[in-house]
Amino acid sequence: MAILVTGGAGYIGSVTTELLRARGEVCVVLDNLSRGQRAAVDPEVPFYQGNVGDRELVKRVCNEHSIDACVHFAAFAYVGESVARPELYYENNVEQGIRLLGALTSSGVKRMVFSSTCATYGEPVRIPIDESHPQSPANPYGWSKLFIERIMADYDRAFELKFVALRYFNAAGAIPERGEHHDPETHLIPLVLKAAQGSIPHVTVFGDDYETPDGTCVRDYIHVADLAEAHALALDYLRAGGSSSAINLGNGHGYSVLEVIEAARKVTRQEIKIKVEGRRAGDPSHLIADANRARQVLSWQPQRPDLASIIGSAWEWHKEHPQGYAAS
Ligand SMILES: NC(=O)c1ccc[n+]([C@@H]2O[C@H](COP(=O)([O-])OP(=O)(O)OC[C@H]3O[C@@H](n4cnc5c(N)ncnc54)[C@H](O)[C@@H]3O)[C@@H](O)[C@H]2O)c1
Repeated sequence: MAILVTGGAGYIGSVTTELLRARGEVCVVLDNLSRGQRAAVDPEVPFYQGNVGDRELVKRVCNEHSIDACVHFAAFAYVGESVARPELYYENNVEQGIRLLGALTSSGVKRMVFSSTCATYGEPVRIPIDESHPQSPANPYGWSKLFIERIMADYDRAFELKFVALRYFNAAGAIPERGEHHDPETHLIPLVLKAAQGSIPHVTVFGDDYETPDGTCVRDYIHVADLAEAHALALDYLRAGGSSSAINLGNGHGYSVLEVIEAARKVTRQEIKIKVEGRRAGDPSHLIADANRARQVLSWQPQRPDLASIIGSAWEWHKEHPQGYAAS
């Protein structure tokens, strides 16, 4: 039996594919390369370039490879873009996601691990955020993920699709073979490292007047390898007959933007200039996970929770790949 990894040429999907293969799983990647990198997928892994919404292609892949589960990373994931171009997010993440679910269920694939997000919670009404926190997304990206969660719950009732919706907080870090390459890059840690390398002049800090200890936004960073491990555990859980569930993935500890930059200065021993600008619309002041359910239900134990090792692993990858995968 094999696992269909959608979006396996992207950042988290490529790291998870490597980890699953190291555990002896057979993986098949489906990615349209709209935002991913072919070089991020090992040449030995069967790779299909196409849309997750292409029902015939998905059915053929399921049939040819005896797929028994899908790990669904493929999506667009820029909050700002989703506000300016909501149709892109509803067409790509929701419409294509529904077609993927239809092709999987009609092919007899009844297990799904889904990349959801803390953006489904919206502005927090309490911190830390557990899974029972109200879900009221502040942007179309968050809504697009919440709609798929909702649809999967109905498909569970009607078609016995069992799923784990993993609600990630901020993924960061790298493994030696795979790292973060988004174009354009909007995530803080890779931008900070680009500034340390001198490939951008400074890091922009959006708002220093939040109600946080130093006035900058606080986020919960999680190492991408710990995130990948949680997907493997979620598959084990579903194969053991686990019921559908939504599970937060974070470390339960928040770091401010300025703390991240200071930690990166120590790790890289480079100067990192900052420029403070106004707040971005829709940025909550704090996003910190209560990840107890992941520990209890999946027996998940993050191995690299400290910020220095998260940034250190990303720095090693960035030094080896200053252009990301572009030069691979
Ligand atoms: N990076 C984070 O911190 C974070 C946080 C929360 C949730 N997520 C979610 O995790 C998932 C992976 O995030 P990432 O940072 O690795 O993103 P990414 O952009 O690096 O990877 C997404 C991949 O999906 C592919 N893709 C997009 N739409 C597709 C389609 N219709 N058909 C086929 N392939 C398609 C892209 O080409 C890309 O390779 C996304 O669903 C994202 O919403 C990420």
